[in-house]
Amino acid sequence: MSGRLDWRSGPAGPLRGSVGVPGDKSVSHRALMFGALADGVSHIRGFLEGEDTRATAAVLQQLGVRIDTPAEGERVVHGVGLHGLRASAQALDCGNAGTGMRLLAGLLAGQAFDSTLVGDASLSKRPMRRVTDPLAAMGARIDIQDGLPPLVVRGGQRLHGIRYELPVASAQVKSALLLAGLYAEGETEVIEPHPTRDYTERMLAAFGWPIAFEPGRARLSGGHVLRATDVDVPADFSSAAFFLVAASIVPGSELRLPAVGLNPRRTGLLEALRLMGADIRIENPRASGGEPVADLLVRHAPLHGVELPEALVPDMIDEFPALFVAAAVAKGNIVIRGAAELRVKESDRLATMATGLRALGITVDETPDGATIHGGTLAGGTVESLTDHRIAMSFAVAGLVAQAPVRINDCRHVATSFPGFMELANGCGFDLTVSV
Ligand code: S3P
Repeated sequence: MSGRLDWRSGPAGPLRGSVGVPGDKSVSHRALMFGALADGVSHIRGFLEGEDTRATAAVLQQLGVRIDTPAEGERVVHGVGLHGLRASAQALDCGNAGTGMRLLAGLLAGQAFDSTLVGDASLSKRPMRRVTDPLAAMGARIDIQDGLPPLVVRGGQRLHGIRYELPVASAQVKSALLLAGLYAEGETEVIEPHPTRDYTERMLAAFGWPIAFEPGRARLSGGHVLRATDVDVPADFSSAAFFLVAASIVPGSELRLPAVGLNPRRTGLLEALRLMGADIRIENPRASGGEPVADLLVRHAPLHGVELPEALVPDMIDEFPALFVAAAVAKGNIVIRGAAELRVKESDRLATMATGLRALGITVDETPDGATIHGGTLAGGTVESLTDHRIAMSFAVAGLVAQAPVRINDCRHVATSFPGFMELANGCGFDLTVSV
């Protein structure tokens, strides 16, 4: 990805209409990986056409997996079986995707050949010992310097199962260990300090691998096979989040978001916004591909301050940039604690949001693991996204209710998770343009 792309988001609204957000990123990554390791052909529908998930598809293709694209949002994965991947002479480029790199580290630890995982400038600064240390305890050999990418995964190791208590709640680490566990002798058990998204567990079960799991705990043994399975990917709650906040804060707004994935480990923002007074209705709840989905109806409502329950943090780990914007215009203070993980996302999200909101006239007191945001009035101004997709989209939402346009620097990474964001946003009433 090259070139710089700045945005300008002007005051606008009310927001109206129906907004169909793209497919879930976490589910799309996993569907590709499990499809690749399965026996047979898996059809993925609702696949996220983002740069992160396309990077994972390209890596798997480099490893010898045929993946067809019959139409946009569809992939046909021709599984090669658990032991059918082939070495790649070139490094495997995960782009901006922490999920791609960490899950692939687990998957590649069990192969007979060496692989090198690399990422872009942002991913190259993200901590990897959280996966390489427990994988080493399973017998994997991964060369790494200063805890950062690139990862050189040495093949031909005999892996054995471990019982691992995660020091931080992380679905990526959990999933990496479970993927390595497919290749390990004996039982791999992962215990989390707080339950995280369980797509890996659900999808392994759907692909026919025996696995025992409950919130906060998962256990499997090596030596089985994955059977090809079709996957229907729900709309990504994390992408819906920007519109939930936008319609909540722009007077007169009413938006419908169809078929959004409502896995309970993802919907903390829904609860947080409701605690702040938001008017969000869940309509037509149903199951799709083993996941709960529903249409969301969100109407403008005055928001007020709240002390965010710490237990909600893992269930809304990707939604804090959007929450910061809701907090900026709420009446009173929003207090966030227990969210130190935000400092090691695509950017240090506590610092990036605090700095950006301050540039727009909001008082934010930052702490090592959170912030207090003093609700007020957003002025116009210039903010830095630091190439973090969710920061860029959150400030686009802020521009809707600012007193003058907000200029957002370096928004090109929005395409990693939400291609078409600008068009969808403008379609329901944003005033979002490329800034020249
Ligand atoms: C993800 C897990 C979370 C989340 C990321 C996607 C996943 O990361 O922030 O966007 O698909 O497993 P952590 O495991 O680092 O919390």
